[in-house]
Amino acid sequence: MLPRRIRRALKDLAYRTPAARFLMPRYHYNFRPAQLGFLVSMLDEVRFVDGAVIEVGCFACATTIYLREHLADLGRRRRYLAIDTFDGFLVADVDYEIRERAEVTDRHSLDYTGFSINRRSWVERSLALSGHGDVELVQGDAGALDYGQFAPISFALIDVDLYQPVSRALRSIAPFMSPGGRIVVDDCLAGNIFDGALQAYTEWCGENARQPEIVHGRLGVIRF
Ligand SMILES: C[S@@+](CC[C@H](N)C(=O)[O-])C[C@H]1O[C@@H](n2cnc3c(N)ncnc32)[C@H](O)[C@@H]1O
Repeated sequence: MLPRRIRRALKDLAYRTPAARFLMPRYHYNFRPAQLGFLVSMLDEVRFVDGAVIEVGCFACATTIYLREHLADLGRRRRYLAIDTFDGFLVADVDYEIRERAEVTDRHSLDYTGFSINRRSWVERSLALSGHGDVELVQGDAGALDYGQFAPISFALIDVDLYQPVSRALRSIAPFMSPGGRIVVDDCLAGNIFDGALQAYTEWCGENARQPEIVHGRLGVIRF
């Protein structure tokens, strides 16, 4: 270990560079604190329910690490599957928003590239450094997966934003939910770039005679 004064000088130097924004404590989450708290309460509710936890759309796995820490506190080992393209949205999914959902919002001017600066190897390293190297990363289209391979499922967080992947993932995951399980769909909020999630969620609720339950402004909940 380097002497304290050298470590301090190195840190001082690093904090003066543009890299400081990656090194200093910052808020890294795509969820507000109350929304993260709600996700934690969902894990508490499924504490005695059998099945894997699935995060559909994990980006850099910041929320994954947060939720995994809570699962560790609960003292129950579960499979945790984190699914992503690790390359942002699929062209076909964005095209669908622009072609088929253009009447909802003028989508041509919107930027769908936000999550494309990512890499599976970065996420693997981050999980390993955090002590969560056993999270199972699944790379591919979340809308085309056979979720039966992960069944039973106790909790699924669906966070892929656009209509097609949210709708397809929701329809493919629901049949494999354990009794007492929970699904949360993020971005169930009207009139924003990701309101495809709201459409997919409300359609599923309508088709399955469920009353929509949207909490904390944008979290669509389904209780099994
Ligand atoms: C809002 S981010 C997920 C944020 C993450 N849950 C968190 O809390 O930090 C949405 C992610 O969905 C992924 N995504 C979008 N479409 C997808 C698809 N069809 N299949 C798999 N992943 C997809 C993107 O690459 C992006 O990383």
